[in-house]
Amino acid sequence: MSEPLILDGKKVAESVYQRLLLEVSLLPVVPRIVFLRVGEDPASQSYVRSKEKRCLELGLRGETIVFSESVSEDEVIGKILSLNRDKDVNGILVQLPLPKHIDKARVLRSIDPYKDVDGLHPENAGLLLQGKPRFIPCTPAGIIELLKFYNIPVAGKRVAVLGRSEIVGRPVAQLLTNHDATVTVCHSKTQNLTAELLRSEIVVAAIGKPKLVQANMVSSGVVIVDVGINRVDGQILGDVDFDTVKSKASAISPVPGGVGPMTIAMLMKNLVLAATLQSQKN
Ligand code: GUN
Repeated sequence: MSEPLILDGKKVAESVYQRLLLEVSLLPVVPRIVFLRVGEDPASQSYVRSKEKRCLELGLRGETIVFSESVSEDEVIGKILSLNRDKDVNGILVQLPLPKHIDKARVLRSIDPYKDVDGLHPENAGLLLQGKPRFIPCTPAGIIELLKFYNIPVAGKRVAVLGRSEIVGRPVAQLLTNHDATVTVCHSKTQNLTAELLRSEIVVAAIGKPKLVQANMVSSGVVIVDVGINRVDGQILGDVDFDTVKSKASAISPVPGGVGPMTIAMLMKNLVLAATLQSQKN
C-alpha cells in the first residue's frame, strides 16, 4: 500500500474556525460559555484551558468555574440552575469525569437542553437517536466533519465502532447510522474483535486502550479514525498502532493532531449554534 492520506484534524479545525468567524460576526450577541470543572484532574485542567483559549482566539466569551473535589452534587446542580436562568450565558459545559460521589446523569440532566453544547442531555441524545439532532456531541461531530472534509463517503460502508461510551462510541454509531453507514459496535465483550474489524471498511477506535488495533486486525485500504488519547509514560498514544497500521490504511488520523482538534472545533460550532437558537427564541 502506498502512503495513506493523513486526516489532519488541525487543518480541518482551522477551516471550521474560518467559517465560524464569519457566523459570529453576523450574530447580535457575543456567544458566552461557562465551563464547570470539579477537582484537579490534570487532563481535565488541560482540556478546559484549551477550550477557553480557543474561545478567546475566536472572540467568544469563555470562563471556568472550578469546584473542589469534595463539592456536593447539589452545589454543582444549584450553579447549573442559576446559569440556566442567566440570559447572558449561551452554553454550559460540565467537564467529565466527575468525582464518584456525584451522579453524572443527574448533573447533565439539570443543564438547559438549549445550552447543552456537549449534546449529553437526554433530550439532545434522544433527538440524535431520532435523526433530528440539535447539539451533536463534539467528538462524534468532529469525526463526521473530518471524513467529510476529505471526501470519504460513509453511506453504505461497513463501519466498526470500537467502544460504546456515552460520549463517543454510542453517539458516533448513531450519527454514522444517520449517515447511512452499516455500523457494528464492538466492546470489551465482543467475541472476535479481529473478525469484526477485518470486514470493516472504516474503523473508529474509541476504547481507551493504547495501540490495541494492530496491522493484522484490519483490511487493506481501511480508513482509520483514532479517538484514543492514552497517556503512557508521558507520551500520548492512540488506540491504534499508527506506525504499523498506516501501511495498510488508505487514510488514518494521527494522535495527537487528528480527532482531538476537531472536538474543540465542534464545541465552538455548538456554542455558536446555541447563541443563534437563543437569539431566535428571544
Ligand atoms: N472529558 C473528555 N472529553 C470530554 C468532552 O468532550 N466533554 C466533556 N464535558 N468532558 C470530557
